[in-house]
Amino acid sequence: MVRRPALVAGTLLLVTGCAGQVAVQEFPVVGATGIGDDYYPGDGNGGYDVERYDLDVGYDPVTDELTGTALVTADTTGAPLRGFSLDLVGLEVSSVQVDGSEVTTTRDGDELVVDPGQVVVDGRFTVQVEYAGVPEPVRDGPGTSGVVPTSDGVLVVGQPDVAATWFPVNDHPRDAAAVQLSVTVPEDLVAVSNGTLVDRGDPVDGERTWVWRSDEPMAPYLLTLAVGDYDLTEREVDGITYRDAVATGLSDRRAGNARAALERQPEVVDFLAGVFGSPYPFTECGAIVTDSSLGFALETQTRPIYASDFFGSATGAELVVVHELAHQWTGDDLRLDRWSDIWLNEGFATYAEWAWTEAQGGETVADQLAAVLEQPADDPFWDQAIGDPGPATDDLFSGAVYVRGAATLAALRAEVGDEAFDELLSRWTTDRAGQAVTTPEFADLAAEVTGTDLTGFFDEWLGAGKPA
Ligand code: TRP
Ligand code: ZN
Repeated sequence: MVRRPALVAGTLLLVTGCAGQVAVQEFPVVGATGIGDDYYPGDGNGGYDVERYDLDVGYDPVTDELTGTALVTADTTGAPLRGFSLDLVGLEVSSVQVDGSEVTTTRDGDELVVDPGQVVVDGRFTVQVEYAGVPEPVRDGPGTSGVVPTSDGVLVVGQPDVAATWFPVNDHPRDAAAVQLSVTVPEDLVAVSNGTLVDRGDPVDGERTWVWRSDEPMAPYLLTLAVGDYDLTEREVDGITYRDAVATGLSDRRAGNARAALERQPEVVDFLAGVFGSPYPFTECGAIVTDSSLGFALETQTRPIYASDFFGSATGAELVVVHELAHQWTGDDLRLDRWSDIWLNEGFATYAEWAWTEAQGGETVADQLAAVLEQPADDPFWDQAIGDPGPATDDLFSGAVYVRGAATLAALRAEVGDEAFDELLSRWTTDRAGQAVTTPEFADLAAEVTGTDLTGFFDEWLGAGKPA
């Protein structure tokens, strides 16, 4: 056997020749500590792609302590890895095994680094991490998010990058993965998460283990957990299982508005399938309605989470459900490749609200667009480039991103006509189903479908300043 290192086109390769057979192997490298998103350089990691997370966690609502075992199954994406990292914020790590062998790790900021040189992984590998601690809440965005203790339990909700506050993860939407979450909580509490309920275990020593599973890949921030006093119901409509968890502590008025809006979910799903020109992307659906006043809702995959704040009025309740269910197509099934394209999530979900309002006999999409265009050109509303809003969460989720994002679609529809517009949304959500997407990809598809160069249109609508 001949073994000689060669430098080819800047890549260090090991070329091994053996009786006429020549195998070219890349030299093992250390995976990057970020996936390469300019907005959040530390988010995600390089060198591998996660296939699935098997999480086994316990949560104690009295001490707020989380104890967990995370089994991460991943594949290298290029060269073999002699070291790599996962994202993890806070929490104590007691053991890490790579392919079953104990390894040493270093904590470096929000990175859990598997010290280089102990193992080489190539192709499929597993990492098992044992950890525990009280998760640190995230204090930016529209309020406190991340792992948020409540009066009766806990909620896990937030974006862009809260997953790392409760499990070791490749915390970026570019890397979606299947998830199974087993969660052990006091037996009198309900634990709800995404996807299907695999098991609601029997009480053992005052505790019960709930097992939830999502087979369709999911961006890590879309994994949720709600523990508390919930009324959990289940029904099936048109092959989709709706599981709704409604907090028992809601006021009668809010509970009434919530129930009425949730009742209409199958109708909303049907309507949105028409708007997007593609079927609902998952087989599970439903909602988690908390009695906490967190001030936000989030499109957690298959099972959006809604704070009590949204259920003060019947119309408000309906619109937020439309918004979060629209995200199941744009945000969840099609997910962001980079956070700067956030309008692809929020603009589309807001546009869906406008379309719903029009279909209910309310204000038309054209009226909504006209109202946006009434904002004077010197209004600060036009200052932000919504196609590159900036990483501060106030900027990423600004009102302009939502409203001007929706207006961009409404204006596009007016520009290219209903037929081409419908075909565009249908091709976008069908051809790119399950993928990470970018704005240039949407603009290219728009050009392809309409046969028109729309570069100027998107530059104008997504840039700073009021379109002419
Ligand atoms: N994406 C959410 C929505 O529009 C809103 C949101 C932005 C959010 N940042 C958040 C929700 C942080 C919870 C936490 O539906
Ligand atoms: Zn949204």
